[in-house]
Amino acid sequence: MNVYKCTLLSNTKLTESSHDLRVLAPELKDARPGQFVHVKCEGFTLRRPISVCDFDGEILRLIVDRRGAGTDWLTSRAPMTVLDILGPLGRGFDTEGNVLVVGGGIGTPPLIYAAKSAASADAIVGFRTASAAMLLGDFSEVCRTVQIATDDGTLGAHGRVDTLLEKRLAEHRYDRVLACGPAPMLRACARVCAGAGVPLEVSLEERMGCGVGACLVCAVKLRDGNGGTYMGRVCKDGPVFRAEEVCFDD
Ligand SMILES: Cc1cc2nc3c(=O)[nH]c(=O)nc-3n(C[C@H](O)[C@H](O)[C@H](O)COP(=O)(O)OP(=O)(O)OC[C@H]3O[C@@H](n4cnc5c(N)ncnc54)[C@H](O)[C@@H]3O)c2cc1C
Ligand code: FES
Repeated sequence: MNVYKCTLLSNTKLTESSHDLRVLAPELKDARPGQFVHVKCEGFTLRRPISVCDFDGEILRLIVDRRGAGTDWLTSRAPMTVLDILGPLGRGFDTEGNVLVVGGGIGTPPLIYAAKSAASADAIVGFRTASAAMLLGDFSEVCRTVQIATDDGTLGAHGRVDTLLEKRLAEHRYDRVLACGPAPMLRACARVCAGAGVPLEVSLEERMGCGVGACLVCAVKLRDGNGGTYMGRVCKDGPVFRAEEVCFDD
């Protein structure tokens, strides 16, 4: 892991609040699905973590949702801007075998690279509403099937991804489920996968400081497998964890 000066090749608006950034970054050749990069945003001491959405050995794809001043700066950069990128960071997904990826909102981008890296994949993705849906064409390219749910029923099934997940696992066999999205969604997926006896990996989102395991800003309580708990670091020990390691209720 290192800091690289990488040229932004394109910046395209994807939805009302999110942008699709393509960055020339052959230096990130070891980037794995589920890992993230830590991007310097002008005017801020702390970098902002963004998941690797896709990587072809040369071009890094990042999907960035405008949430505050840092991501506002990042999504307003013009092509040819040189970005200061630290990465690739963290522990990614195990994509071996036949996988089912389950994503919610801005948690969907890293699942593109995960699905693409698996031997075979299906996808279930959920959004607030139709206009917030993203990357559906990309999921169709790398997955055999793509099921969609929206909270308001304006696209796909009316409801939540865990309802679709439960039905899917009752009818199909998978080696593992890989999930990324808001904490309540991950908690619901953990309940469904535990009930179906299918291994689940979840990518957690926490505020970050250093991004490399030194400051403990991203500490979360984890289960040690012997009935105890310990504090783990999302940036270094994750962001991807086995669901049974995570204390979802804390
Ligand atoms: C491992 C990881 C991967 C991520 N991948 C992506 C991605 O692919 N695309 C993307 O758009 N975003 C991603 N995020 C979230 C992104 O890092 C935050 O939205 C960003 O840091 C906010 O910075 P800001 O300066 O724009 O907002 P701030 O002004 O710092 O905060 C604005 C709002 O965002 C919330 N926020 C700040 N940091 C985080 C955080 N780390 N997680 C959740 N909420 C936060 C704050 O609580 C506040 O409500 C990821 C976060 C992590 C930890
Ligand atoms: S962000 Fe510093 S230890 Fe994780």
